[in-house]
Amino acid sequence: MPVDTFTQIPEEQLSPEDAALLLKAREVALTAYAPYSKFRVGAAVILENGEVITASNQENAAFPSGLCAERVALFYAGSRFPGIAVKSLAIAVIAAKKEANRVYAPCGACRQVMAETENRQNKPFRIIFEGPGNYITWCNGIEPLLPFTFKLSTE
Ligand code: THU
Repeated sequence: MPVDTFTQIPEEQLSPEDAALLLKAREVALTAYAPYSKFRVGAAVILENGEVITASNQENAAFPSGLCAERVALFYAGSRFPGIAVKSLAIAVIAAKKEANRVYAPCGACRQVMAETENRQNKPFRIIFEGPGNYITWCNGIEPLLPFTFKLSTE
């Protein structure tokens, strides 16, 4: 997969809409319930109708019962606004041990859910995430993050 499927730009060069969405993701990361990992994640989704949905990760003492911020946001969007396409999703991380040169890309399970969202709406959406350093990484559609994506027909 060619590297130019991702765009990496200094944060101050983000478009106003992308910057505003990332700010919302950062704000909502503060609401994370992450007493076990202390890794707080915020996700902000903007829909084609302009509606913005924000969510944070929610952990559980029975670890697999918790859920990532991205999935909380996408599942809520699908529940509250079925049929309205996702335009962009921004992801922000707040953690004491945040490494400067790392790219904070979404986990594999969230990528699969993003793929389903894209497939469902038949339209790619922008995925924006933090790093490396003061740069922001983004791509249009799930394919670069999840090549050879698994899909099932609903026909
Ligand atoms: N987490 C997310 O919310 N999103 C991701 O893409 C990666 C991981 C959460 C899950 C868990 O609560 C914590 O971060 C540490 O893995």
